[in-house]
Amino acid sequence: MAQYRRAGAAVAVIRLHNAPVNALSSAVVQALAQGVKKADLDPSVKAVVICGANGKFSAGADIRTFSSLQPRDRPALAETVSLIERSQKPVVAAIEGVALGGGLEVALGCHYRIAHAQARVGFPEVLLGILPAAEGTQRLPRLIGIPAALDLITTGRHVLAAEALKLGIIDEIVKENTVERAIELASKVSGQPLGPRKISLKPVPDLPDMEAILSEALVKVKRKARGRLSPEMCIQAIKAAVQLPFAEGVEKERELFRFLLGSGQAKAQQYAFFAERAVEKWTMPSGTSWKTASAQPIRKAAVIGLGTMGRGIVTSLVKAKMLVVALEQDQKQLDIGREAVTSLLQWEASKMQQSGQSQDICDPARLQFTLDFGALRDVDLVIEAVFEDMALKKEIFRKLSTICKPEAFLCTNTSALDIDEIAAVTSHPHQVIGTHFFSPAHVMKLLEVIRGHHTSPTTIATAMSLAKTLNKVGVLVGNCFGFVGNRMMAPYVEQAIFLLEEGCKPEEVDQAVEGFGFHMGPFRMLDLAGLDVGWRSRKGQGLTGPKLAPGTPARQRESRRYSPLPDFLCEQGRYGQKAGKGWYLYEKPGGRTANPDPWLYNFLSEYRETHGIKARFVDQEEILERCLYALINEGFQILADRIASAPEDIDVIYIYGYGWPTHRGGPMFHASTVGLPHVLSRLQKYSEAHPDIPKLQPSPFLKKLVALGSPPLREWVSHVRQPSSKL
Ligand code: 3HC
Ligand code: NAI
Repeated sequence: MAQYRRAGAAVAVIRLHNAPVNALSSAVVQALAQGVKKADLDPSVKAVVICGANGKFSAGADIRTFSSLQPRDRPALAETVSLIERSQKPVVAAIEGVALGGGLEVALGCHYRIAHAQARVGFPEVLLGILPAAEGTQRLPRLIGIPAALDLITTGRHVLAAEALKLGIIDEIVKENTVERAIELASKVSGQPLGPRKISLKPVPDLPDMEAILSEALVKVKRKARGRLSPEMCIQAIKAAVQLPFAEGVEKERELFRFLLGSGQAKAQQYAFFAERAVEKWTMPSGTSWKTASAQPIRKAAVIGLGTMGRGIVTSLVKAKMLVVALEQDQKQLDIGREAVTSLLQWEASKMQQSGQSQDICDPARLQFTLDFGALRDVDLVIEAVFEDMALKKEIFRKLSTICKPEAFLCTNTSALDIDEIAAVTSHPHQVIGTHFFSPAHVMKLLEVIRGHHTSPTTIATAMSLAKTLNKVGVLVGNCFGFVGNRMMAPYVEQAIFLLEEGCKPEEVDQAVEGFGFHMGPFRMLDLAGLDVGWRSRKGQGLTGPKLAPGTPARQRESRRYSPLPDFLCEQGRYGQKAGKGWYLYEKPGGRTANPDPWLYNFLSEYRETHGIKARFVDQEEILERCLYALINEGFQILADRIASAPEDIDVIYIYGYGWPTHRGGPMFHASTVGLPHVLSRLQKYSEAHPDIPKLQPSPFLKKLVALGSPPLREWVSHVRQPSSKL
C-alpha cells in the first residue's frame, strides 16, 4: 500500500503502491502517514522521498470510495498532506507518470518536486463534480498565482512536465532515473531551512486587479458550465485562498467539498467517469467479449471521401501517426480535400506546440492523396465516408472487396444505414464494421462501433482499439436504423418540431434544452448539421418528395402524426447555417449567429392557420419532458432490443456524441435519478394527449422495470428478455 525503505544511510523512500494507478485509498493514505511519521521519528533519516510504484506517482483519491463517503467525514488525505509539509525533514516528490488530484496535493505537501519529462500533473476533480479537497485549492494559488491556478483548477486540464516547470509547480525535470535524482536532491537539501519551502506559509502572489480577475473568471466559468456547479465552487475556494488565512481557507474548501459531494452532480459525473471505462469492456450478445478477442495492428489506413467527415477522420489518423491514403472521386474534390486536411493538421500542430508537445504530425510522407483505388492494395483498414447513399456505398465496398488485401478491415462511416446490406456485397463480411465518427471527426471523442450480423470478434476488437489509438471512446452497438445515437435523436427532434406546430418558437425550445445543460438546442443543432441531410433521408424513405403516394395527408404518414415543416423549409432553400437561414436567420451563408427570424414566425402562423391548429402556450416543463423523455423512451427500447448492451453505453454515446450535460450523467442515468415511475407517468400522460405519436407510448421495457419496483440502473440489463434458444 505504501512501502517504506531506506536508500543509503540517510534517505527514506516511501513508495505508493495500489495498482493500477496508485489511487489514494484510505489504506494507502494511512500507510503514507505512517511512513512519514516513522521517518520523522528516526534520527538517522535526514530526508524523505515519496514516489509511486509502476511508473506512476498517483491518480489521486480513490473515486470508488466516494459513494460511501459521508459528507461529514474528515478528509484523512488533507491531514496527511499537512503532516508531510510539517515534517522536520525535507520531503521530495519524485513524480513519474501522473500526479493528479490528491496525487498532486500530496506532491504539493512535499518541499520539493522533481518530475519525469513525460509526467502529467493536474487537478481533474472539477470533472468529477468536486474540487481539490486536500488543501489543493489553497496551496496551488500560493505556488503559481491566481490566474494559472484558476485555469488549472476550473478546467481540470492535465499539464505536461515542461509546462508544469514553467508554471512553477515542479522544481526540476529529468529524462530518466527520477527517483534516484530525487534521492540525490533529498540528500543535498537535508539540513537546509524548510520554512521557505512550505507552500502553506507563502502569501498568495498579489495582483492589483485581483477582484476583477476573480469576477471575470466567475462570469466565464458560469457561461461555460451550463449548470455545472463544481467550476463555480472551485472559484469560491480559490477566492478563499486570496481573502483568508490558510487554515480558514482550508475550512472553506472543506465546506464547499462537502456541499458538492452531497450533490447529485458529483454522483452523475463520477458515474460518467466509470461508464467511460466500462464501455471499453465490450460484450457481444453471443457472450464473446474484449477478454478473448484480440485486435490486429493497423499501420496503414485509407479514407474514401474527403467531405465534412472524411477530412476530420484523415486528420485523426495522421495525428495517431498512421500512414494514410486519402481518396476522392475527382481532382477538384481531391484538391479541396487536400487543402482542408492540410489546414486542419496545421491547426492541430499549432495547438500541440502551444501545450509543449512535439508537433511532427504534419509529416507529408505519412499522407498520400489519390484518385486511384489501386493505392489501397496494401492498407490494413479502410474507412468509407462518401455520401449517405446505399447504392454508392455498395459500389465502393464491392470494389474494396476485390482490391484490398483479404485481411483488410472495411469500415463504413454511415450514420444510419444497414451494415449487413453493405457487408453482403463483399467477400469478407466478417471484416466489415460500422465506425460512426461524429462531426467534427478530429475533435469529437465518440466512435460508435456497429457490429453487423457477420462481424468477427477480431474486427470488433480492432475497431475498438482504433478508437483508443485515436484518443476516442469507442462504444460497441448493434445494427439497426440510426444505431443508438441517431435512433434516439429521431424522436427527440420529432417532438421539437411538433412543439413548433403546437405554438412554440424555435428559440423557446432551444432555450429550455440549453437550460437543461445541452450545448445546443435541437433547432440550432439542425441548422448546424444542415436541414438537407434529414430531407434527403426522408425522401429516401418515401416520407416526402416524389416517392410519396399522391393524396397522402400533409400531417400524417400511415396512422402516425408527421410534420412537413422541415420539408417546407428545405423547399425554400433554408438548409440552415450554410444557407444563412434555416430555423434561424444568420448574418450570411456560413454565419454562426442564430437570430430569431420574423419570416419564420409568419410562416408558422400561416401553417397553423392552414391546418386548423390553435397555438397554445407550452411551458418549459412540457418542452423538456416531451423532448427528453421521448429520447429516453427510445433508449429503453434499444436496451430491450439488445442494440446497446448496457445503459452506460447509451449514456457515454450521449455525453461524447450529442453534448448531453455530464453533470446529468447521460439520459439513462437521468431517468434513474428522476425515477422510472415519474418518466413512465409523464410518457403516459403525453401519449394519451397525442395518441398519434407512437414514440410517446412508453416502452414495454420501461413498464416492466417499473412493475419490478424500479431496480437500480446496474440491474436493468438482467431484466432484458434473452433471445429464445435456437435449439
Ligand atoms: N480512483 C479509483 N480508480 C481509478 C482512479 C481513481 N482516482 N483513476 C483511475 N482509476 C481506475 C479506472 O477506473 C480503471 O479501472 P478499470 O481498469 O477497473 O476500468 C483503471 O484505474 C485504469 O484507469 P484508465 O483506464 O483511465 O487508465 P488510463 O491509463 O487510460 O488513464 C489516468 C490513467 C489518467 C490516471 C486516468 O485513469 C484518470 O484520469 N484517472 C482519474 C484521475 C482523477 O480524476 N483524479 C482525481 C481524483 S479525486 C481526488 O483526488 C480528490 C482529492 O482532491 C481529495
Ligand atoms: P460530404 O458530402 O461532406 O462528403 C462526401 C464526400 O465523398 C465528398 O467529398 C464526395 O466527393 C466524396 N465521394 C462521393 N463519391 C465518391 C466516390 N465514389 N469515391 C470517392 N469519394 C467520393 O458527406 P459527409 O457529411 O462527410 O458524410 C459522409 C458520410 O458520413 C455519410 O455516410 C454520412 O451519413 C456520414 N456522417 C456524416 C456526419 C455529418 O455530420 N456530416 C456525421 C456522421 C456520419
